[in-house]
Amino acid sequence: MEPAKEEESRRQKLLHPGKSLYQALLDSVILCNDSVKLQIINEKNKVPLLVEIFAIEGNIFRLKINEVSPLKSRYEVPDVLIKEPTTHRLSIAQKEGDILVLTCAGDDRKLHITANPFQIELESKGEAILSVNTNGLLYFEHLQPPPQNSKTTAQKKKDTSTDSSQENQEDLGLWQEKFGRFLDIKANGPSSIGLDFSLHGCQHVYGIPEHAETLLLKNTSDDDAYRLFNLDVYGHKIHDKMGIYGSVPFLLAHKPNRTSGIFWMNSSETLVEINTKAVMEHVLSKSPPDITKQRVVPQTDVRWMSEGGIIDVFLLLGPTPFDIFKQYAQLTGTQALPPLFSLGYHQCRWNYEDEQDVKAVDAGFNEHDIPYDVIWLDIEHTEGKRYFTWDKKKFQHPKRMQKLLKRKKRKLVVIIDPHIKVDPVYTLYSQAKKKGYFVKDRKGQDFEGICWPGSSSYLDFTNPEVREWYADQFAFKSYKGSTDILFVWNDMNEPSVFKGAELTMQRDAVHHGNWEHREVHNLYGFYQQMATAEGLIRRSRGQKRPFVLTRSFFAGSQKYGAVWTGDNVAKWSYLKISIPMLLTISIAGISFCGADVGGFIGDPEPELLVRWYQAGAYQPFFRGHANIKSKRREPWLFGDENTRIIREAIRERYTLLPYLYSLFYRAHTTAEPVMRPLWVEFPEEQETFGVEDEYMLGNALLVHPVIEQEATTVNVLLPGSDEVWYDFRRFRRLDYPGTLKIPVTLESIPVFQRGGSVVPLKTTVGRSTEWMTDISYELRVALDSKDFAIGELYLDDGHSFQYLHKKQFLHRKFTFHKNVFSSSCADEIGQYRTKCVVERVLILGVQKQPTSVTASLQGKRDGKDKDVVFTYDAKTSTLTLEKLLLNVGADWEIHIK
Ligand code: GLC
Repeated sequence: MEPAKEEESRRQKLLHPGKSLYQALLDSVILCNDSVKLQIINEKNKVPLLVEIFAIEGNIFRLKINEVSPLKSRYEVPDVLIKEPTTHRLSIAQKEGDILVLTCAGDDRKLHITANPFQIELESKGEAILSVNTNGLLYFEHLQPPPQNSKTTAQKKKDTSTDSSQENQEDLGLWQEKFGRFLDIKANGPSSIGLDFSLHGCQHVYGIPEHAETLLLKNTSDDDAYRLFNLDVYGHKIHDKMGIYGSVPFLLAHKPNRTSGIFWMNSSETLVEINTKAVMEHVLSKSPPDITKQRVVPQTDVRWMSEGGIIDVFLLLGPTPFDIFKQYAQLTGTQALPPLFSLGYHQCRWNYEDEQDVKAVDAGFNEHDIPYDVIWLDIEHTEGKRYFTWDKKKFQHPKRMQKLLKRKKRKLVVIIDPHIKVDPVYTLYSQAKKKGYFVKDRKGQDFEGICWPGSSSYLDFTNPEVREWYADQFAFKSYKGSTDILFVWNDMNEPSVFKGAELTMQRDAVHHGNWEHREVHNLYGFYQQMATAEGLIRRSRGQKRPFVLTRSFFAGSQKYGAVWTGDNVAKWSYLKISIPMLLTISIAGISFCGADVGGFIGDPEPELLVRWYQAGAYQPFFRGHANIKSKRREPWLFGDENTRIIREAIRERYTLLPYLYSLFYRAHTTAEPVMRPLWVEFPEEQETFGVEDEYMLGNALLVHPVIEQEATTVNVLLPGSDEVWYDFRRFRRLDYPGTLKIPVTLESIPVFQRGGSVVPLKTTVGRSTEWMTDISYELRVALDSKDFAIGELYLDDGHSFQYLHKKQFLHRKFTFHKNVFSSSCADEIGQYRTKCVVERVLILGVQKQPTSVTASLQGKRDGKDKDVVFTYDAKTSTLTLEKLLLNVGADWEIHIK
């Protein structure tokens, strides 16, 4: 691969921490209804910048910095915010000399603006949370006329508005830059921006996916910043901060009593430098009065640098981790509610050869009694990599094939990449060409690059008209051979351009609105997935939820479907890194994420494959996938014993679906990540802050996948001094939280249920999710130290939007309190008829054998109590109630005496 481009950051790095060159002109302050505006000026080049500060409802500040009068508009990221945020009025609380204090109507937030040097400090309840430009790294390259139009040196000397620091840097790639054999011509010249933030009291920072790195962000050294630049990196390195497929410029900072967030809304190449250090804090002691004491406190400085655009940053003040998730979702949206089938197991490979192969693999699952929901077709299914077509020899009867799958209650996913083969007789190409829908090169011709089909042009998804047209391609009448069980996989959408600079599109390519590719680069995949999801919704006349998997993503991609971590390798180290990678993606708003089970590249040894299935079964998106050069890998090809263990793992996934689906409902409605780092659930327990080999699935299950070869034990941290934990499968109560050495065999998936929770399960599995609609429920109740437990279940038809439009859903609440276990409605608005029953309830942590257990239906006229069949296992303190037949949608109570 070519070396990374670096001139923008080299220029910015000439600016060292110190006193900022910017001063605020406090006389320019204007209080508007929705914001406060003021000007700042660079003392060297005298170019004024406009600063706008918004107090957004829900404890968020927004800071925008742009040129007061740029030569032309600078790019502002569109389509990522779900709506124009609602603002609160800011007013001036104090103006004294160099300092202006703003307060926000109705809350305790304050904002201190210092004029010289220009700095902002955010304060909540008297505590300084975060400051801006403390290291003086505010950097803003103002747009200038191209060199041929620029003034003579004599004129420049007279003109104070010329930036001498920019002028002296002709060798630093201001107007063009060579890297490798590529020449990047910068139509707008230098336009990079940067800013630093100090997070007070914080030494733990997270987020800014996607990197194959640890959960906890590391300090960066020179040339080692976290890079956010979407790239196709086959078999990417691990423990590396290079940019890979997706970018979410959202960082979370955490300390025991507070979580904060920085969302840097910029879609050009972005670098993030992190420096956690100890600083002296001066505290005014009250006794004896006025004596200043010093103490050492941690602080994390974060410097953001982007190639273009404006500074548009959201500062999220939490204070809890869940507040942060809500605040971020308030801006960028929540996770789309996936169709239930997509939470099942997906079987993929590059490639399933032909219809016969698909049929045989599908039959293999039945034969080996392994549930699965979706079979996938990679690029070879098309006529010469022309998407939306079928290879005429291998897939002669695509509809017939889908009919067969539909009869089996299964689905098909096909790949649809963004590059379009240059081929005048390929309708998609000729239409798009005629309509001018491709990205252009800098000379105004359709950009052509090499990808799977050979020479290709790239649809300009940033253009709303192109997205409309693209969405229409999914209509059944346009997409020949497609049926309603066909869903879509968007790949290569960084975009990947073989032989291109860093394997992507030239930055000087031109998009809709005359924006250069450099400005929109990280949004390209986001827009393709948006258009694809819209296409699938449209083809169903707005009735059905889409499923679209994308490789490239940006902030807000959660609204359109799922993401996966790209081309990993069949090695233990990649299994291990998949956990922090998925956790990082999850806390950046994208709950529906997964890694290729087995590792895409190479051939996993059976033990690794088994362990990967076990991990994947407890992760949000669960798909086995393999490279074209890898050996066949269907779950039954590794001997009876391994087949059995893989079967068990997949079956476990299927019994867990009610819980998982309920978690997705929460992600969809309240932005809680499905897969969460331990610290999110235990924000005050310092020992959880760096944990990345285990995680929480919702708030009830702690999962510690086995990721070491030939492991015989795992060290599991069970956090929380007041918590009770239970082995999820053996029900044993683990009273002493801390780190436990748990023995494991090849069959073990160490999972622990937190006392105080209720996990809804299915009592058995079917051949796919659709076969399981009527299968009864089991409720796993785990009592806490106060003999209490609470949990919920969300249920709907699993595929339509009726839950939204017609409120056809059930949201149930289960509570165990004072020896009564009850089912009640969690949301009166939802209605959904189901015959499905709760058949079994397991209560873990019951201290003594009851004498009687009775159940009563609430609100029934004959509401008599019925005796319940129960067994009690004193060894594990587990009470099992069976043959219950209590409707899952009804209110009922079970009394234990
Ligand atoms: C890319 C994808 C991979 C896919 C292959 C062929 O490498 O990441 O999943 O199988 O392209 O389409």
